[in-house]
Amino acid sequence: MKASGIPLNKKIAIITGASSGLGKEYFFAVADESLADEIWLIARRADKLKALADERPDVKVKIVPLDLTKEEELSRYAQLLEEENPDITLLVNNAGFGLLGKVVELPEKTQADMVRLNCVAATSVCVSSIKYMKSGARIINISSIASFAATPRMTVYSATKFYITAFTRSLRYELKGTGINALVVCPGPMNTEFLDKAGISGRSKTFDNLPRNNPKSIARNSLKKAASGRGVYTEGAFFKFYRFLAKALPMEFVMNFSKT
Ligand SMILES: NC(=O)c1ccc[n+]([C@@H]2O[C@H](COP(=O)([O-])OP(=O)(O)OC[C@H]3O[C@@H](n4cnc5c(N)ncnc54)[C@H](OP(=O)(O)O)[C@@H]3O)[C@@H](O)[C@H]2O)c1
Repeated sequence: MKASGIPLNKKIAIITGASSGLGKEYFFAVADESLADEIWLIARRADKLKALADERPDVKVKIVPLDLTKEEELSRYAQLLEEENPDITLLVNNAGFGLLGKVVELPEKTQADMVRLNCVAATSVCVSSIKYMKSGARIINISSIASFAATPRMTVYSATKFYITAFTRSLRYELKGTGINALVVCPGPMNTEFLDKAGISGRSKTFDNLPRNNPKSIARNSLKKAASGRGVYTEGAFFKFYRFLAKALPMEFVMNFSKT
């Protein structure tokens, strides 16, 4: 869609949570495919974003250090779009975190911040960005296999990923006819900073026993799926089967296996 009559500008790809893990792999994938004139990298650690940009001097990068859990920083993002009036060809809403533990044991602030980042920020960034997209643009929102069935001991995380999956699927439906596609990506466990930050490493038998998804492969494949008009992407037969089972069986039963 065009922002109120103003001519569209340079082609931009935007990646949130680009300072590590999956977000970093999206940067390399987008850079390799020359999908934009400029890539905007968003996260809190500006030094990591800068180091990432330095790895690809051939690519024009804008470093946008933001803490997306803060309302005023989400407003700064919207303000930046207004100033630059870009043509957004790709948005990857990837920033997110999880935390292992029961709801009653974990700090209220951290759990609320998880909702702020995984749900509120993802929504806000999406809503602000869509106005600067036109036919052919892609939105990729990162969810998780935790959105297939409720996940005790990662209750809030799982609930935030239910939200992002439902949000993206419904958004995609609303966007029919505009030429803009929204894809939700549901990775299984990946060996990124996520596992340590969530306190998972070595503390969850479920996680220890699950196969791993490869972030590089997820990034590259999901970009193709989004371009082809797909709505949901899960990588690997194991996780595709889990998605099917979680849909087919009563959730009360599935939680005996999904609990972390
Ligand atoms: N790894 C897994 O097992 C797994 C499985 C399924 C889904 N996922 C999902 O995949 C996505 C990427 O995670 P990852 O595995 O790549 O983990 P990661 O390496 O920890 O990356 C998370 C990214 O989010 C950014 N971030 C965190 N808090 C932020 C904030 N307040 N404001 C702005 N950016 C923030 C981090 O950057 P800064 O710290 O610099 O801000 C980092 O770039 C997440 O949505 C996660 O839920 C991960």
